[in-house]
Amino acid sequence: MGNCFGHSPTREYSVSNSTRASAAGKSGHDSRSGFLVNSSGVGEIPEGANESQGEILEMPNLKVFTFADLRSATKNFKQDNLLGEGGFGRVFKGWVDEKTLAPSKMGSGMVVAIKKLNPESMQGFDEWQSEVNFLGRLSHPNLVRLLGYCWEDKELLLVYEFMQKGSLENHLFRRSPNIEPLSWDRRLQIAIGAAKGLAFLHTSDKQVIYRDFKASNILLDWNYNAKIADFGLAKLGPSGEESHVTTRVMGTSGYAAPEYVATGHLYVKSDVYGFGVVLLELLTGHRALDLKRPGGQQSLVEWTRPFLSQRGKLKLIIDARMEGQYSFKAALQTAQLVLRCLASEPRNRPSMKEVVDVLLRIELIKDKPKKSSVSSSRRPAPRQDMRHQGPNP
Ligand SMILES: Nc1ncnc2c1ncn2[C@@H]1O[C@H](COP(=O)(O)OP(=O)(O)OP(=O)(O)O)[C@@H](O)[C@H]1O
Ligand SMILES: [Mg+2]
Repeated sequence: MGNCFGHSPTREYSVSNSTRASAAGKSGHDSRSGFLVNSSGVGEIPEGANESQGEILEMPNLKVFTFADLRSATKNFKQDNLLGEGGFGRVFKGWVDEKTLAPSKMGSGMVVAIKKLNPESMQGFDEWQSEVNFLGRLSHPNLVRLLGYCWEDKELLLVYEFMQKGSLENHLFRRSPNIEPLSWDRRLQIAIGAAKGLAFLHTSDKQVIYRDFKASNILLDWNYNAKIADFGLAKLGPSGEESHVTTRVMGTSGYAAPEYVATGHLYVKSDVYGFGVVLLELLTGHRALDLKRPGGQQSLVEWTRPFLSQRGKLKLIIDARMEGQYSFKAALQTAQLVLRCLASEPRNRPSMKEVVDVLLRIELIKDKPKKSSVSSSRRPAPRQDMRHQGPNP
């Protein structure tokens, strides 16, 4: 779900004893999520939430599953049903009845994704609780739907709507003959969906800061509609006159905003920085952080920043797999938006509402270029371009 920073991008989590105490059924205030948590693990709605673009439910409408239910729905967590694995644990495909959500036979009823805590994971109850508290009551077309949870002894599980096309990370970075490269139009559609999800979180009166925006947390449905998943690190935004909340630095290297990494001051606009990094990944097809790249190119932001601001160099960093699919004007405006999102001062970044508006305007630009006579497969990769042309960024 998320990780905190060490000296390297390796994951490092801790769950305090006091949090474990609430796992045993105590009521208390969860300082991380900011919600009041009762013995059922379900918090109270933040006051004055804005419901205009989505819905913030008064009570989480979640089914409480037994461990036996979920074991049955996944055929005893059969390896064949494994969808993936993250810091929290493994994610399995399961089948439940569409109406009652009771486990059904494999292949019948509705498919769900079931995330099971790995007992050795350093993430744990905090993230699980935050997911239930936030995602359990937030409802928006661009947020993954949490259907229910299981909490039995040490077993913590979460049950989500199934996202047929998996994560954006898989589509962008896992080069496989089974995965078709995402087209320009599709990347823009994904960026717009994810931006709308974040804008919804930020525009509720009591703002929600997502804190872990990255390609692996954007899931895609059958039609490539993007939905944000994993609210394990989400936090309520500042109250009153405060501009930020102060918190332990957690998140994922390469995506986190510089002010947050340096000071632990978390702004709503820290999410906008993370969005800028993902937009840059969509534009270039490269990972935010890749230690396999040569020095000077490992951080995508540092490496590509000079290319984004120079008209003549922009083409060198755009993913060659999209050649012939986009108008240069649209690419230029996207690069300018990336730069604004990556501004070092949070107040100089646009709001997510503004980001949505700009992306919708870019989507309307239709002057596509004529197809290049050089096929994209024969063009040198962007990384090569950058290594051999122009100043080393
Ligand atoms: N609702 C879902 N529908 C379909 N597949 C899912 C769903 N949730 C997760 N997955 C799959 O499981 C994988 C692991 O997800 P998970 O959120 O546990 O880890 P992650 O996002 O890769 O890493 P992190 O621990 O940093 O969040 C995803 O990459 C995705 O392929
Ligand atoms: Mg995730």
